Amino acid sequence: MGMSLTLDQISALIRHRRSIKPAGMDPAKPVDRATLMTLLENATWAPTHGMTEPWRFRVFEGLSREGLADTLQRLYRETMPAAEQREDKFAKLRDNVLQAPTVIACWMQRGGVEKIPEVEEIEAVACALQNIMLSASAIGLGSFWSSPPLLETEAFRHWLGIREQDRCVGLIYLGWPKDGATWPVSARRPVTECVTWA
Ligand SMILES: Cc1cc2nc3c(=O)[nH]c(=O)nc-3n(C[C@H](O)[C@H](O)[C@H](O)COP(=O)(O)O)c2cc1C
Repeated sequence: MGMSLTLDQISALIRHRRSIKPAGMDPAKPVDRATLMTLLENATWAPTHGMTEPWRFRVFEGLSREGLADTLQRLYRETMPAAEQREDKFAKLRDNVLQAPTVIACWMQRGGVEKIPEVEEIEAVACALQNIMLSASAIGLGSFWSSPPLLETEAFRHWLGIREQDRCVGLIYLGWPKDGATWPVSARRPVTECVTWA
């Protein structure tokens, strides 16, 4: 059964979604709670094998972003091999968080259903995050998925209060584009290069 959106409309939305870097967001323009709740509820309508609904979210706004920024920088110093540390990356961890009015830590909470492989629970969370980003794009709200390697560290899981078997799959930055900013363009290779017909 179809619904009121046309295929052209959903195609346009999917192709309109872009990663908007936090540097292009206005930190002074908050994302209102009702909008955030709609985005998060849309996330929960992602497919989920075994109905485990493994997605979990912690929303950082206002001052709580300072704690997140401090933690990301501290863990970068503590967990990255010194020879691999780059000052621009260190600075960006803080800047990204403070340039976006809203940052959502998104993790997979491993359920107790043994027959569901871990990767499928991660895949379900990835689908949930796509729902957030599509919903954001629909209203011109910028979104950006970042995945610094330190999200995978025990220290970060501990700080977030999640278990060994859970996986933090990303930080989603949300914010309204700065005044005068243009929505980015991107490109994809022709789909024919990705398809074979049996
Ligand atoms: C799982 C995942 C993790 C990502 N992590 C990062 C990241 O750490 N840093 C980054 O700059 N972009 C990250 N991205 C966003 C990609 O860079 C972006 O989607 C790509 O450049 C295509 O641009 P578009 O989203 O505007 O189409 C991530 C995307 C995915 C799917």
